[in-house]
Amino acid sequence: STIMVLNGPNLNLLGSREPAQYGYETLTDVEVMCRDAASALGHDIDFRQSNHEGILIDYIHEAGRRIKEGEMLGVVFNPGAYTHTSIALHDAIKGAEVPVIEVHISNVHAREAFRHHSYISSVAAGIVVGMGVQGYVLGIQGLVHKMKQA
Ligand code: DQA
Repeated sequence: STIMVLNGPNLNLLGSREPAQYGYETLTDVEVMCRDAASALGHDIDFRQSNHEGILIDYIHEAGRRIKEGEMLGVVFNPGAYTHTSIALHDAIKGAEVPVIEVHISNVHAREAFRHHSYISSVAAGIVVGMGVQGYVLGIQGLVHKMKQA
């Protein structure tokens, strides 16, 4: 089945944005890594990015419907800065009953205090933090492993 890999605001700038924090790989490089990791496990990737909170919410709802139809496994989600602000994304994940693995490229806990709280973590099935872009691959593997146990 399909795994949605969802990226929030500013992640379209990956590779050129604060490379000391996020590295030199682009979002297209991440997409290739995700497709390789998923296909090795017999899954497909639906890879998306939006800078808009409402669009991310619509994608979570879509994932919820596709999960209920048995066509999607869950979502690997880097919500970017909306992690620290968005009650609406928290509610969407809860309301649509979507298994979400929260991914942060950087170790948010070693950075500014405003990055230490996440509105997503309490509704996430798992969290990958500070593992660089490899975190997306770990997130995919973790989601597949978790859903086999469920
Ligand atoms: C991020 C961490 C967030 O605090 C930041 O706003 C991002 C990226 C990460 O992947 O490390 O945009 O989610």
